[in-house]
Amino acid sequence: MGVTDSPFIQACYGRNKGRIPVWIMRQAGRYLPEYRAVREKASFVEVCRTPELIAEVVRQPVVRFGLDAAILFSDILTMLTPMGLPFEFPEGGPRVADPIRTPEDVERLVEVDPEKDLGFVLEGIRAIKKILPDTPLIGFAGSPFTLACYMIEGMGSKSFDKPRRFLHEFPDAGDRLIAHLARNIGRYLKAQIEAGVDAVQLFDSWGGMLSREGYFRWSALPAQKIFETARIAGVPRILFVNNITPYLDMIRDIDCEVVSIDFRADLSHCSEKLPGKSIQGNLDPSVLFGSLRDVVTRTTRILGSIENHDRFIFNLGHGIQPQTPLESVSAVVEAVHNYR
Ligand code: CP3
Repeated sequence: MGVTDSPFIQACYGRNKGRIPVWIMRQAGRYLPEYRAVREKASFVEVCRTPELIAEVVRQPVVRFGLDAAILFSDILTMLTPMGLPFEFPEGGPRVADPIRTPEDVERLVEVDPEKDLGFVLEGIRAIKKILPDTPLIGFAGSPFTLACYMIEGMGSKSFDKPRRFLHEFPDAGDRLIAHLARNIGRYLKAQIEAGVDAVQLFDSWGGMLSREGYFRWSALPAQKIFETARIAGVPRILFVNNITPYLDMIRDIDCEVVSIDFRADLSHCSEKLPGKSIQGNLDPSVLFGSLRDVVTRTTRILGSIENHDRFIFNLGHGIQPQTPLESVSAVVEAVHNYR
């Protein structure tokens, strides 16, 4: 079976008649012993910059669990360095050396040339395609607002007060920052498609913190721009929004094939509000720490809440956590694949 006929790609277009596809956000990562073995020898950033290691860690969860899609191994922050904002990954999460503080800092941002600046990512895609030619490969980028969060705050945060304040204190510079990001993210996703990815996902991890008005201006409009640039026939576009429920009416109008739903949201309510779109989601990642019986019950409950299984992709409602028991992941995959 080729990639085009695969349950994952077919489900993205709402015409899957095969098994229900499943993949897991952050499926390559520290909960896997074989990933930790690679990380004994190389830092996270080194893995992200080495095409052979990228291909190896992408393959690990696909082979172990029989997942229906692979996702590129990289990070949403990878494109910050060529924009002129280098960062590091010490213990405890990302640190941007010199975060954006003023409108002048926005003017200094550099345009990214994906082939020249992020060639190691595109080489990684080509290396993955060599070893996993029949598995759909998902490329990705962070959303403009999510990247702006790290560029302004300089690190992770519970509330990202600095970026939210910056956009109101310096509205013109804020709009220029978001436009710069949208342009460069669109171009980067297009380059990933040209290098061989079969679908793209935009991670709007923190847009769900915005007011409805803020979401429209700094997340929905830029997402529309990005998906226009990354619109290539046969390559589905997936939008993930963490805390999606307040914005469903705006997301309905965004030109993309699939919407990925966070674990707080009611899946049948979301699919009702998003006619014509395929739906991905939305098991709470923390459920995987419960009993196997509970894991299977909750997985089956999600599958039962879906009306049209031809356009459904099973996933978690956010990234899988380190220390997640491997048996839980196997149980989810088995329950999804046995459903029909
Ligand atoms: O398997 C996959 O999903 C592909 C690879 C991937 C990673 N990060 C690898 C990673 C993807 C798609 C991401 C996206 C990402 N990165 C997001 C958006 C998704 C989400 O969870 O909302 C965000 C916000 C980031 C930024 C980021 N990267 C943070 C805040 C951290 C530190 C926290 C943590 O989990 O350690 C990372 C590190 C990171 N990205 C790791 C991996 C495998 C762990 C690094 C390690 O191996 O030590």
